[in-house]
Amino acid sequence: MQSSQPRDRRARSQRPSGILGARLPLAPPPGYRCDNVNPFDTSELLKARDRLLAGDVVAIPTETVYGLAASIESEAGLRKIFATKERPFFDPLIVHVASFAQARTLVKDWPPVADFLARFFWPGPLTIVLPKAETVNPLITSGLSSVAIRYPSHPVAQDLIKLAAVPLAAPSANKFGKTSPSRAEHVRAEFPGIDLLVLDGGDCEVGVESTVVEINVLSEDESEVRILRPGGVTEEMIRETLEKFSRSVRVVRAESPVAPGHLKHHYMPPVPLVILPEDEPTPLSLRRRTQLQSDLKTNELRNTSELVLNQDPEQAARELYSEMRRLAEEGADLLFIRAPRDRSGLWSAIWDRLTRAASLNLS
Ligand code: TXA
Ligand code: MG
Repeated sequence: MQSSQPRDRRARSQRPSGILGARLPLAPPPGYRCDNVNPFDTSELLKARDRLLAGDVVAIPTETVYGLAASIESEAGLRKIFATKERPFFDPLIVHVASFAQARTLVKDWPPVADFLARFFWPGPLTIVLPKAETVNPLITSGLSSVAIRYPSHPVAQDLIKLAAVPLAAPSANKFGKTSPSRAEHVRAEFPGIDLLVLDGGDCEVGVESTVVEINVLSEDESEVRILRPGGVTEEMIRETLEKFSRSVRVVRAESPVAPGHLKHHYMPPVPLVILPEDEPTPLSLRRRTQLQSDLKTNELRNTSELVLNQDPEQAARELYSEMRRLAEEGADLLFIRAPRDRSGLWSAIWDRLTRAASLNLS
């Protein structure tokens, strides 16, 4: 165990009082459904905090997927995120906070519509993009004038942010363009041979990345909420919530891909994934196999595996990435999935990830 003395005096003075005594061992907040949180021993969290404050990265659990976190105040840590992930600098990072007050320090202005949405969906899988405060390092925002902010509901993420007393920039903890990790062991497998502290917070509850919304205030009583990436908070949930908001808000879905870094080929599993029509017969016909071999420019397909998603969208989202990894580990040389029919609610996020992860969409 490392020294429990904080390396950063400022962090010690700003640390919320009583966090070690009052909140540890960790317990999920009321109403939070998570059966898998390992009770954290204080030394692991302190070690993570020390590493972050010393300019290192740490892999953290969130309710969506695991993140590769660094302190937003450490240029070395931020650079290490990009280097470790082999991520281009044009893809901006999400800043994770553990209070509304912390969120406000990152933005120029905190408009009522942002506050309204945050009060419904934070802590949780909603990322809000707003014009950034000058103090936010442009490395985080890829030079954009806006910053993406999220208040995760996972108790381990929250406690670490509070303990470090600084917001944490964190992309998903995978190599750039690859499948996001929904378990600690996925992160370890993604970065073998490097000294990376991975806090194991169990299986991620949501399983796909957060919904990203950009907020544009158009006038005193008119604003726009633009969904840049569908996720755990669905478009329907956002619309329904905003009906209760007193001013006029237009909810629009961005034509893909407008979120920087939200590229067509992203979330790629270890072996090619093909989307087939919903009524595709299995086992695959010889004709289909021959066509796939030719389209994918591959030799004989020996072991094709079907990715079968649960009918319940919450369960399907939760299992999506771990199923892709499991089938690849079991030796599949091609994964195929029959296109889910439903595109509403959480299926929209699942469909978005599938189409980006797929090498071919024949549906
Ligand atoms: O659920 C999540 O959001 C996970 C966990 C770890 O919190 N994080 C995550 O981060 O998915 P990442 O880096 O894999 O995806 C972040 C995406 C960027 O690719 C970009 O599309 C969008 O968030 N983003 C970040 N900053 C933005 C900005 N200023 N304007 C528009 N989009 C932004
Ligand atoms: Mg990612």
